[in-house]
Amino acid sequence: MIKIAPSVLSADFAVLGAETAEVKAAGAEYLHVDVMDGIFVPNISIGFPVIKCLRRATDMFLDVHLMVDRPLRYVERFCEAGADLVNVHVEADTEDAIKEAIATVKAKGKKAAVTVKPRTPAEAVLPFIKSVDLILVMTVEPGFGGQSFMAEQLPKINLIRGMIEKYNPGCELEVDGGIDANTAPMVVKAGADVLVAGSAIFDKPDRAAAIRAIREGAEKA
Ligand code: DX5
Ligand code: ZN
Repeated sequence: MIKIAPSVLSADFAVLGAETAEVKAAGAEYLHVDVMDGIFVPNISIGFPVIKCLRRATDMFLDVHLMVDRPLRYVERFCEAGADLVNVHVEADTEDAIKEAIATVKAKGKKAAVTVKPRTPAEAVLPFIKSVDLILVMTVEPGFGGQSFMAEQLPKINLIRGMIEKYNPGCELEVDGGIDANTAPMVVKAGADVLVAGSAIFDKPDRAAAIRAIREGAEKA
């Protein structure tokens, strides 16, 4: 089954509880929360206090995407703030430190994930593939919502789908960046099963219709 993960980066932060309730009522499976540190990516978004408030406001699955340099320093606190899944970039530290970050998240009883940026090859997930619950392939350069989908990432999604089938069939494959009703069928065909969408949902007046359109797009694959 395809899961839809609205990214709150494009939501109205002054009314985040209501925004979350709206996408939950519309049947979204995950809530994608983008954390940016101004170092790993050239933008700053939100951190622990907002995740704590979201945890109190909703029982949705909180999919926390850390665009943070050396995330091992912070993963435990994201678990304690209420994340259900903590996702770190493979580019953000050494292989050993990323492995330790994954182990730390698992020891806290949470799901762990790794992400690859567009210029990072598929093989970069191999050292972690057996120990993660989800792999995220970025289909834009991380840092900003509302960018155009990079179709050249499709072969990589397909390659990682093959690796998942071989090494860890229960692992989910998420895509993030430029996903809408038109790009959803392409990424699903390539093997994705969790679709993050920010602007395609929160920039629309009718979020339920937007989610429905993405799901219908995905079903066309
Ligand atoms: C970008 C973030 C995304 C972003 C996606 O760095 O990781 O989650 O919110 O936004 P859209 O769906 O608008 O491309
Ligand atoms: Zn994201």
